[in-house]
Amino acid sequence: MAYSDKVIDHYSNPRNVGTLDKSKKNVGTGLVGAPECGDVMRLQIEVDDNNVITDAKFKTFGCGSAIASSSLATEWLKGKTIDEAVSIDNMDIVEELALPPVKIHCSVLAEDAIKSAINDFRVKNGLPALELEKSH
Ligand code: FES
Ligand code: FES
Repeated sequence: MAYSDKVIDHYSNPRNVGTLDKSKKNVGTGLVGAPECGDVMRLQIEVDDNNVITDAKFKTFGCGSAIASSSLATEWLKGKTIDEAVSIDNMDIVEELALPPVKIHCSVLAEDAIKSAINDFRVKNGLPALELEKSH
């Protein structure tokens, strides 16, 4: 199976790899794993007083599509409010990266990591956690 040019680009030159200080109140951390393959993704957001995401970082121990999905996700997150970010759908990532069906769950991992990071931020700041169940 061939990877798309965009996957290869993000995989060979991943954006925003790294770590934010998770002890900070304005940093949300999402850590998720894919039951399908055991790959693990950590995604973090830093949020300003207007609920705008000013920074995003990731570390993914996983396949090329998972790395590309999380790299793309961090690019999309920056500049969005946390309410806008919650509507990022894994199928947007699938479309942008031209992921084949067997790699759809890699994009689900990125969507789950985004939502888990947002919820971590919300709970830390006294907001109710969002209901994140999604059928895919
Ligand atoms: Fe499992 Fe990509 S995250 S194969
Ligand atoms: Fe793979 Fe939902 S678990 S697409």
